[in-house]
Parts: sequence; structure tokens; C-alpha cells
Amino acid sequence: MKLSARARSIGASPTLALDAKTKQLIREGVDVISFGVGEPDFDTPNHIKDAAIEAINAGFTKYTPASGIIELREAICAKFKKDNNLEYKPENILVSSGAKHSIYNAVQVLCDEGDEVIIPAPYWVSYPEMVHLAGGRPVILPSGIETGFKVTAEQLEEAITPRTSLMILNTPSNPTGAIYTRDELEKIAGVCVKHNVAVISDEIYEKLIYEGEHVAFAAVNPEAKEITVTVNGVSKAYSMTGWRIGYAGGPADVIKAMSNLQSHATSNAASISQKAALEGLAGPQEPLEAMRVEFKKRRNYMVERLNEMPGFKCLTPPGAFYVYPDITWLIGKKLAGKQVTSDSALADILLDDARIAVVPGTAFGTEGNLRFSYATSMEKIQEGLNRLAEVLETLE
Ligand SMILES: Cc1ncc(COP(=O)(O)O)c(C=O)c1O
Repeated sequence: MKLSARARSIGASPTLALDAKTKQLIREGVDVISFGVGEPDFDTPNHIKDAAIEAINAGFTKYTPASGIIELREAICAKFKKDNNLEYKPENILVSSGAKHSIYNAVQVLCDEGDEVIIPAPYWVSYPEMVHLAGGRPVILPSGIETGFKVTAEQLEEAITPRTSLMILNTPSNPTGAIYTRDELEKIAGVCVKHNVAVISDEIYEKLIYEGEHVAFAAVNPEAKEITVTVNGVSKAYSMTGWRIGYAGGPADVIKAMSNLQSHATSNAASISQKAALEGLAGPQEPLEAMRVEFKKRRNYMVERLNEMPGFKCLTPPGAFYVYPDITWLIGKKLAGKQVTSDSALADILLDDARIAVVPGTAFGTEGNLRFSYATSMEKIQEGLNRLAEVLETLE
């Protein structure tokens, strides 16, 4: 069969591909430590699981409205009000099968064929592919370690053309853990409002913050709210990646268009998962804090150890669960007798010779970085970093 040009224009998600390769090696009996994962290693809290079991036993196993059950949309409105000072009604909310699905829907309804979509790099791997799938053209705004991996309003202003329709912002960031301050967001919002550029603000790591505060882009001023679709979800905050619940809040007409699209593609997110997400948002929040405290401990340890390694330079990321060291100094050197020609080559050497899995920065649109996830146990982090130190002893 002939594949469509659309299908041929995209590849598999490199992070999911790495995860599959790592799991395959582990199945073959190779002892690999994975720093590649993008999901909390904690179990979903029991009270959330119980709510799902209750939903099954009560027969809550049928179609729901495509945009989600009203109780969940109300709980999301309450969350937006409490955490972000954003006033929304249920008609402003769409529940999807994961935040990824909400972002996909938003890109589909906000990006026309040939539109330019601004994406700050390093970016989450799926953004440019989603733009391609909508027929748009990703315009990548680079940022590096010297600006804390954040782009500026001036950079944005320079990149905007009459074809620019959309920007995709991510705070806290995957892969860098960077957090935009209120002041930075206000300046970026000023430029977007001036040029009528819509914004998808991906705030999925909102609850994983170790220093500073999360500011919702839509909350910086009323004009920003009018041009923004805020995406969030329960995957990272409540350790619910497999349940597939994400949501979007935004202007009613945009949410309606996203809901129409979803109604023809997937219909509602799983009814049982919606009940579980409702319990996550409305129930006790203590497990979340325990997870955050543990992540912070791991982050501090990992950053300290990585900065002791030759050729590794990393910031202390204030959010998410990733560390993003710069490794450019190692390019051109030899490790385990092999030439380090790029960050991807280094990731391959580390998988083969140190048996640790990391994601090369190229996957996120920068060269010369590696992404280490610390969503794995302290013992594994210690052992994995020992292996890294060992292989670095072979540096030539
Ligand atoms: C920045 C970012 N946005 C969205 C998602 C998707 O989350 P979900 O599991 O809710 O689809 C991820 C998951 O890795 C992510 O890192």
C-alpha cells in the first residue's frame, strides 16, 4: 500500500524508540539502567486506584460526552482557579486521552496548511511532528545553557512573520526543567498579543517544581488568556501515565473545535480513567508532595555527580524530572576506544559500554546535550552514575 505523504513525513518518537530498545535489551538479560524514561517510577496512589475500581463495579463503563464528564470538567475548573487563578467554565474545558492528545487537537484546530509555528528549543519531541501533521512549518527558536534554556521576547519578535499563527510554550520544560518567570511570560505574551499569535502552553510538569513558582501563561493578563490554550494532565503529577487523561482550558470556541475533532477521532477519554482523574484532582494531595520531595533529593544528587564528571556541565533544573548536561567538550574525543562524533554517538557508547540509557539532545533540537531522567530509584541513579564515571576513565 502507498503511504500518504503525511505518514512518510514523520518518524517514531525517539524517546519511545529508546525506551523500546532499552526494554528489549533488558528482556534479553542485559543489565541496563534507564535514564531515558519520561514517567514517574512511583505507583498511582491507592485512593485513585480505588476510585477506578469503584467506577468499574458501579458499571461506569460506557461512552461519556466527548469532551469529558461534567464532574471532571468542574474539578478541572476548580484546579485552574485554585492553582493558576484562571476562571473557566466547563465549556472552556476538554478532557482528552492524555495531554499529548489535547496538544494534538489544539495544533489541528489552530494551525492551517503553510502556517508557521514557533517552537522554542530544546523542545518536547512531539511538537514539531504535530505541526507537520497539521501541514504547518515549525520555526525553531534556539536557546542554550547560557540563558538557562529559555528564549526571550526579543527573539520571538524577530522570528514572527505574517505567516506565524501559533507558538508552543512549555514550562516547566521537558527536557531542560527550565521554568519561565512571570516577568518573562508577560513579555512573551505582549509580543504574541501584539502580533495575534495564539499560544499552546504545555504545563504538564506544573506540580514538579523545586525552586521558584509556576506561573500559568494564560494568567499573566486578560489578553494572554484570550489567545491561550493551556494544556495539563494527571500523568506526571499523580503518577498516572498509563491512565491517559489530559485536559485543555481555553476560549470556548477553540475548545468546541477541539472537542468536535476529538469526537470524530477517539470520542471520550476512557470513562474509568476519568473517574480516577477526578479523584486525583479532588482527593488528598499528600502523595504528590512526597513524590516531589523525593525527586528533589534525586535531582540534587544527580546534578552534583554529573558536574564532577569530565566534560559534563549542567545547571540545576528548577522543575520536571530531567537533567540536561552540555557534553560538547567530549565531542571529538574517544571513549571506550570509540570516537565520540556527536551526542547520539555518545548515547550509543553509553548504552553499549556503560549499560545506561540516555536520550541525545539532537532528539530535542539541540546538539551537544544528553537528557538524564531521574524518575528512577536512588539506588539505580547511584549505580548508573558509577557506570558513567567508570566509562569516562577510558577517555582519550
Ligand atoms: C512536555 C510534555 N508534554 C506532554 C506530555 C504528554 O503527557 P501525557 O502522558 O498526558 O500525554 C509529556 C510526556 O512525556 C511531556 O513531557
